[in-house]
Amino acid sequence: GRVAVLMGGTAAEREISLNSGNAVFQALLRKNVDVTAVDVKGTVLAALKDSSFDRVVNMIHGRGGEDGVLQAVLESLGLPYTGSGVLASALSMDKLRTKLCWQGAGLASPKWIVLQSKYDIQRCIDELGLPVIVKPSMEGSSLGMSKAETQEQLHRAWQEAAQYQCDVYAEAWVNGKEYTVGILNDEALPVIRLETPHVFYDYDAKYRADSTQYHCPSGLTDDVETQLTELALKACNVLGVKGWGRVDVFIDNQGMAQLIEVNTVPGMTDHSLVPMAAKQAGLSFDDLVWRILETSLK
Ligand code: DAL
Ligand code: MG
Repeated sequence: GRVAVLMGGTAAEREISLNSGNAVFQALLRKNVDVTAVDVKGTVLAALKDSSFDRVVNMIHGRGGEDGVLQAVLESLGLPYTGSGVLASALSMDKLRTKLCWQGAGLASPKWIVLQSKYDIQRCIDELGLPVIVKPSMEGSSLGMSKAETQEQLHRAWQEAAQYQCDVYAEAWVNGKEYTVGILNDEALPVIRLETPHVFYDYDAKYRADSTQYHCPSGLTDDVETQLTELALKACNVLGVKGWGRVDVFIDNQGMAQLIEVNTVPGMTDHSLVPMAAKQAGLSFDDLVWRILETSLK
């Protein structure tokens, strides 16, 4: 049947999505799939109108693509698609609700405070101390995120994040090491450890800098690697994540794992992590893309 690779979208991560989508489109061409690249510039409904696709590979990151809205449209159209369904997509896009779900399931994530009014600034300093990292709850690729070490920086970080038109929260700064776990067909890929000289793994460290170091194998002992992958699978399970994704997690200096977030449409650019982990597992980029396509056969 005919496959559409949806890419672009209108959210802040549009450029990243075009890179992910094009890489996936090229891989499917090499696999001799009857595939069309669809740049979604308005609504998905408009982009799919008058088309006769049988299946959708969704490579749209962020709001409108990764948050359940697109998934609901595809459900209504009766079009099978890759990755998570409506609820898991919506929950995972919202990092605050994600944390509440994990809290309910007894899975650790860093302490946080929602920043709604100026009184929350002082409450945040009292309850979490400094530094903290301030995040818009519904963005990706570290957009709108900043570290705050003083009250003034916290105020500025809040204003910065608030521009993204969603809830904003401050999360306790984790001293430790950063890891990510790719998920494919409800199994974990080898863990990657990320190391950046930047203040944190920000947009530039993710897509532009040569200074970011990726360790895969992760350097963890087999036992800890297994614990981390099991935790990642549980973290997905609580949210109902299906097919594929990527769980970001820290291990703090006390050796305690702290879940950060789940991405249900993780990046597939040449700098991206899931392809790197798949390669370590012996899966080429093209074979990975094929396996992602298969997640639409549910
Ligand atoms: N949000 C970006 C695309 C990622 O998680 O890889
Ligand atoms: Mg993300």
